[in-house]
Amino acid sequence: MNHIKAIAFDLYGTLFDVHSVIDQCEQRFPGRGREISTLWRQKQLEYTWLRSLMNRYVTFEQATEDALRYTCRHLKLDLNEETHAALCDAYLKLRPFPEVPETLAHLKARGLKLAVLSNGSPHSIASVVGHAGLRDSFDHLLSVDPVRIFKPHDRAYELAEGAFGLSRAAILFVSSNAWDATGARYFGFPTAWINRAGNTFDEMGQRPDWELSGLNGLSKLFDGA
Ligand code: 2OP
Repeated sequence: MNHIKAIAFDLYGTLFDVHSVIDQCEQRFPGRGREISTLWRQKQLEYTWLRSLMNRYVTFEQATEDALRYTCRHLKLDLNEETHAALCDAYLKLRPFPEVPETLAHLKARGLKLAVLSNGSPHSIASVVGHAGLRDSFDHLLSVDPVRIFKPHDRAYELAEGAFGLSRAAILFVSSNAWDATGARYFGFPTAWINRAGNTFDEMGQRPDWELSGLNGLSKLFDGA
């Protein structure tokens, strides 16, 4: 791993658990929390990809808000404005996965530069990271907002090279999203796929360089264990 000088992390699903909104969904719609959270995330992602294809960028928060409206309409749930605002606010306060703070501290102590590289907006990234008290863990919080196109487009991944001032071969990209790991690998990043749930990697012509069952696997990689 000696050639790796920096790590860029995906945010949603990789460092933070998008399904930590289930509790709030459950409070508002008893018995439907998981179903809402699953469809909400799926639609949110679809909207980012489709908007990129259509060249009709909106912020990630807007895509998230739109996806929640779709989800509740589809599931025939009555979503009033107060509940909509409360659930979208919950998305700004997601929980990090348990091993995340310690792993980030370990990697930083090894002298690696760390960044978030997310489809989130500057506001949503800063909220989620700040709420968890992890702002100081990162050298950069990189949003795709300046390039107005979402990952997995190359222009989004280029942001990490610019911020770190390093070539892509020296930046490890880490994501739990197989579509994101695929895009990053096509771009030319060495890539680690965090596969906590035992999922199947996508068939889009790439495989990750490393598959790990949690973020703490990175510490072992860099320690040579
Ligand atoms: C990200 O954080 C949406 O998980 C995706 O960029």
